[in-house]
Amino acid sequence: MNIKPPSSLLLLLLFFQTITPSISINISIGIGVGGGEGGESPSPSPPVGCGCEEPQPSDFPNLKQYKAYNIIQRFKQTLTCDPLNVTSSWTGFLPCTYQGFYCASPPYSPDTPTIFSIDFNGFHLCAPSLSGFIDQLPDLSLFHSNSNSFSGDLPDLTSLPYLYELDISNNLFSGPYPSNTLPLSQLTFLDLRFNRFSGSVPGTIFLKDLDVLFLNNNLFSQPLPRDLGNSPVAYLTLANNGFTGPIPNSLCKAADRLAEVLFINNKLSGCLPYEIGLLRIATVFDAGDNLLTGPIPWSFACLKSVEQLNLANNYLYGRVPDVVCSLAKFGQLENFSLSGNYFTSVGVTCWPLIKSGVLDVRRNCIPGCPDQRPAWECVRFFMKPKFCPLSIHIPCSLHGDWNGNDHSVRPSPPFRAVPGRRMAERRRSPASYVTYSALTKKTS
Ligand SMILES: *[C@@H]1O[C@H](CO)[C@@H](O)[C@H](O)[C@H]1NC(C)=O
Ligand SMILES: *[C@@H]1O[C@H](CO)[C@@H](O)[C@H](O)[C@H]1NC(C)=O
Ligand SMILES: *[C@@H]1O[C@H](CO)[C@@H](O)[C@H](O)[C@H]1NC(C)=O
Repeated sequence: MNIKPPSSLLLLLLFFQTITPSISINISIGIGVGGGEGGESPSPSPPVGCGCEEPQPSDFPNLKQYKAYNIIQRFKQTLTCDPLNVTSSWTGFLPCTYQGFYCASPPYSPDTPTIFSIDFNGFHLCAPSLSGFIDQLPDLSLFHSNSNSFSGDLPDLTSLPYLYELDISNNLFSGPYPSNTLPLSQLTFLDLRFNRFSGSVPGTIFLKDLDVLFLNNNLFSQPLPRDLGNSPVAYLTLANNGFTGPIPNSLCKAADRLAEVLFINNKLSGCLPYEIGLLRIATVFDAGDNLLTGPIPWSFACLKSVEQLNLANNYLYGRVPDVVCSLAKFGQLENFSLSGNYFTSVGVTCWPLIKSGVLDVRRNCIPGCPDQRPAWECVRFFMKPKFCPLSIHIPCSLHGDWNGNDHSVRPSPPFRAVPGRRMAERRRSPASYVTYSALTKKTS
């Protein structure tokens, strides 16, 4: 969309207004009539002057909407594309009716509806900057802009005391982490995924009082902060970046808060920490496609809420513990992915899970299992020194039927009779998880 330069007309108008008061009176009358018709373009009904007169505050439902109108019109002129013709609705004296804008009255001023939420998801608008736009709408509480072509520096948003959801995902932002997100005290939802942010993420963002933090699919590279576990975040995705270093054992401090975490496809290394097993409310733990090594600590048997446990494509080895496989029976485990590692055996309880498709151990080194690595790959791997200890401490009480011995399994009749059907019934699609849905570019 080509932008018509209205500035010259505007200047002309201002000029007239300053030197000939009579015209300005006629103009304001003209606009007043237009306003009565509501929602149409701001050209006045009686063709007075050039037809491009500036709207007056009295034309709008309230002063806040008048101010918002001016900000939106200014932003509209900075747009360099609008393939869906969204902005054709951005005319007239009722900005609350513009496509993408939603109004509500701020708490301190009950009868003054103003722009409270912006939802540009999927609008495919192009603008070189959001400065002068969202930072100028003081009552803005939500800004969602998935799948646009916005870029530039994220403006200073500290003048927006109510902003609690900020989503600039799948845009063209790049450069260092946008530090203007750090001081936002009311923020609970921050979605920066699918941009080209790079460098390191300030550790303080993990300590903010967020429920949701999506940083996936950027170019961040740094060791995970050691105090990651102090984060109050419930839904965390760091997937598809260049995070390095070990998974911090401080993670156990998040035991009562962390519901879903995606570390998938980074460069995390080191042994799997015992403390992961303490994440008792986590339904998703996904550290697939990293450089992690060592055996699976038996503490993982305490992941009583886990439904999706993905450790595929790492350098894990040893025996797949019975106590962990038993989570499919006594816990919530639906999908246990260990393919592409170097495991050499599986617990007795694990075999039925392989058959029912819950446990994936393809491309390991397990004798008697189909689709394993060629022997030479296994030999080459096991020639290298191993340094991760096997932790067999189980920091929770297991199910009454389960005595924790890695070899004695007592499959109860219901387990044999039902498992396949029961699991199929309760199995959830990836899209039903908050974090896995964040791995798709577009917000549906
Ligand atoms: C302003 O409006 C009045 C009444 O409608 C009219 O008599 C006058 O000529 C107008 N002035 C200008 C400058 O158009
Ligand atoms: C955009 O929408 C306006 C108003 O609905 C219409 O007049 C105009 O032709 C549309 N332009 C394009 C390019 O679709
Ligand atoms: C199980 O998890 C793996 C790894 O996350 C995923 O690729 C696969 O699609 C999942 N299977 C089901 C049935 O959800």
